[in-house]
Amino acid sequence: MGDKMRHIEPKDVEVREVFSYLLGGIAPRPIALVSTLSTDGIRNLSPFSFFNAFGANPPMVAFAPSRRGRDGTNKDTYHNLIATKECVVQMVSFDMVEQVSLASTEYDVSIDEFTKSGLTPIASDIVKPPRVAESLFQMECKMQQMIELGDGPSSGNLAICEVVKFHIAEKIFDGDRIDPQKIDLVARMGADFYCRASGEAVFEVEKPGLKIGIGYDNIPAIIKESKILSANNLGQLGGIETIPAADEVTSLKDGLKQLKVSQSKFEEYQANGDYKLMLAAALDIKNDDKIEESIKTALKEKDLDFAWKALLIRTDNS
Ligand SMILES: Cc1cc2nc3c(=O)[nH]c(=O)nc-3n(C[C@H](O)[C@H](O)[C@H](O)COP(=O)(O)O)c2cc1C
Repeated sequence: MGDKMRHIEPKDVEVREVFSYLLGGIAPRPIALVSTLSTDGIRNLSPFSFFNAFGANPPMVAFAPSRRGRDGTNKDTYHNLIATKECVVQMVSFDMVEQVSLASTEYDVSIDEFTKSGLTPIASDIVKPPRVAESLFQMECKMQQMIELGDGPSSGNLAICEVVKFHIAEKIFDGDRIDPQKIDLVARMGADFYCRASGEAVFEVEKPGLKIGIGYDNIPAIIKESKILSANNLGQLGGIETIPAADEVTSLKDGLKQLKVSQSKFEEYQANGDYKLMLAAALDIKNDDKIEESIKTALKEKDLDFAWKALLIRTDNS
């Protein structure tokens, strides 16, 4: 079971190789576009994808302005943070990604990277570094800690920052929630790859929340061996809290018998996502694979209760 694996201990390979595994494997990574000021008041703007949020109370984010790979020196963002302890972290939407990439150029410390990237500085309310007007999600931050993770080339420094003010574009909200399609974020992957977190790339997986699902181990063996249901389908089935009772299954079966279905229209029902008609036709044809197809479609439509009832009909048949 499982795929053929490469086994690597970091001590046996070059840092460059370790770096490429981290970049390719830990992906996609959100991008922090960080603005800071030097002690001379020169603006700096650089993207960092070793970045995430680490708590909401207080709201904390961290990113890693690492040592340069070529000579182990520290970057301007690091020096500015050590000196001023302030930054603005902004999220990167698709429309600005090329300008953000331009801002990652290693310009001299004397060069204003807002000017070079063409991104627009606007005043912050609490901290001194400016915000980037084009970003739809901006966080004014105070640095709490800089943790040095090594002293050689490409070693990390972890800048842990508290968010003291959020600025979020009104237009990306759907009620109280940020709509992923509207914020249209991009993320960094390995090599020169990025990905765009909108369109069909975005999908929903219902949170278990306080629900205690019965678990994978309680799914009947015949269903686990199915050639039609995927591992994700089995994960969904394991999330049901209570298996439907026998009388509920019988009443579904009786109800389906009343439906006017045509055996030859199974594919048409499937194309329409009509899993009830699919199951009714599958029972008519007495075809277990087709019953499983109806379970799969019900799961696609997030009708876990129906999927389980169909599953129980299927296991009854076996
Ligand atoms: C999308 C993207 C993500 C990056 N992530 C990081 C990172 O996590 N850590 C890092 O040290 N450099 C990262 N870089 C490279 C820095 O942005 C680059 O070294 C930058 O010039 C540093 O600027 P500074 O010396 O002005 O601080 C990234 C570059 C890009 C384009």
